Amino acid sequence: MKDTRKDIAVDETELLRQLDYMQGIRKINDAFETETGKKKKFFSLAMGCQMNAHDSEKLEGMLDKMGYERTDEETDADFIIYNTCCVRENAEQKVYGKLGWLKHYKKDKPDTVIALCGCMMQQDSVIKTLRQKYRHVDIVFGTYNLYKLPELMNTRMESGDTIYDIWQEQEEIVEDLPSIRHFPYKAAVNIMFGCNNFCTYCIVPYVRGRERSREAEDIIAEVKKLAADGVKEIMLLGQNVNSYGKNLSEPVSFAKLLRMVNDVEGIERIRFMTSHPKDLSDELIEAMKDCPKVCKSLHLPVQAGSSEILRRMNRNYTKESYLETVGKIKEAMPDITLSTDIIVGFPGETEEDFQETLDVIRKVGYTTAYTFIYSKRTGTPAATMDNQVDEDLIKDRFDRMLNVLNPMIHELNEKMVGKIVHVLVEEPSKSNKDVLTGRADNYALVHFEGSKDLIGQIVPVRIIENKTFYFIAERVNGD
Ligand code: 5AD
Ligand code: SF4
Repeated sequence: MKDTRKDIAVDETELLRQLDYMQGIRKINDAFETETGKKKKFFSLAMGCQMNAHDSEKLEGMLDKMGYERTDEETDADFIIYNTCCVRENAEQKVYGKLGWLKHYKKDKPDTVIALCGCMMQQDSVIKTLRQKYRHVDIVFGTYNLYKLPELMNTRMESGDTIYDIWQEQEEIVEDLPSIRHFPYKAAVNIMFGCNNFCTYCIVPYVRGRERSREAEDIIAEVKKLAADGVKEIMLLGQNVNSYGKNLSEPVSFAKLLRMVNDVEGIERIRFMTSHPKDLSDELIEAMKDCPKVCKSLHLPVQAGSSEILRRMNRNYTKESYLETVGKIKEAMPDITLSTDIIVGFPGETEEDFQETLDVIRKVGYTTAYTFIYSKRTGTPAATMDNQVDEDLIKDRFDRMLNVLNPMIHELNEKMVGKIVHVLVEEPSKSNKDVLTGRADNYALVHFEGSKDLIGQIVPVRIIENKTFYFIAERVNGD
């Protein structure tokens, strides 16, 4: 068997190099603070998926080590960084819109440093546009060299030049980057990077490269560290977690990894995403059922209901096999809740195909659905398929889909009313500070009145009202 261990080697020297740059910049920023009494501030925005949100926690951790303080006011920042997404066109438009605004902003505050990174930057066409039209951007890097932020900032400081550093691949995984978690009690952990699936609509494999799994021992060491730091809930992240570990020198299945994480003391809840339906094994269903800490909720994106569309999407499953998998999951864990991603308007989608999607929605009974209008992504096979669907037709289907989904979600959620659930309390509600919000084991979003001291605890509450996309609950005693 080919020894791939060296391919995914943990590059410790690289981390040390970056730590040196971080220290150097910190000295400069500390001197600035001594001189002016002001601390340098950063503004960080993560667009797109959980993977990006987690990457931004690392960027922010490095900025913190470099002596920058976080600000939520963009106009207050000395350093602005957008971690971009390119999965759909509207995400890219948002970045260009913000860059247009920053062009004016920088006229008043020319010392502000603007950095862009993430998936969108891996596309040549984007880099060309930035070089031509957005010359006020200072640092640009991609998905493979995120850990190089300190070095790139140092080069920018020393040379004053605009820095473009986009890599086409990177096998090594740099472990132990500093990180600022957005929530003290829950944390995401990458278990793998990249994707090998090449769904025909999706740009991800082109901008995040081939699948690379982290060593199980590194993942467990990180989870143990997080547990020691007070983290109760872990979200294991990967584009397709079900194929975790296949390319390790000693392969470890995702089911096995889940059992290992379940054994970590102090961790009380485990979630994971995303599961590709084609790779969801019986072994994983068994592990989910057996492991008490693994939450009984599963994100299983169907994308479309018609087997013909699924074939052209290169999803490698059919409507029937998807429904069969769902049947097995429900049989093993009758209380499980299921969520999904659905794309409407994939090239060639007919009314009959669309009806198949509605049929799957009704048969599965999702309690959460992320619904998307198909977005043509240059470079993907679907972009050149000749039977693109008319925009108005797609919008009509999209609305009709929501008319099926929303009442169904409401009806399914009625079953929760009167039940006692355990909620990991996350934060005060945005609209009413006396109300706390958190998630139940089955991912139900719950609001209830309570003291802020409960934040970070898992508390029992009784659901009293179903608001379709969230629930109102009241506290109950005991556990
Ligand atoms: N158009 C619309 N939705 C897309 N997704 C991925 N690519 C596209 C696209 N080109 C959706 C899929 C995926 C989710 C993260 O984004 O549903 O599961
Ligand atoms: Fe994109 Fe498909 Fe990979 Fe998900 S599994 S990231 S949809 S190519």
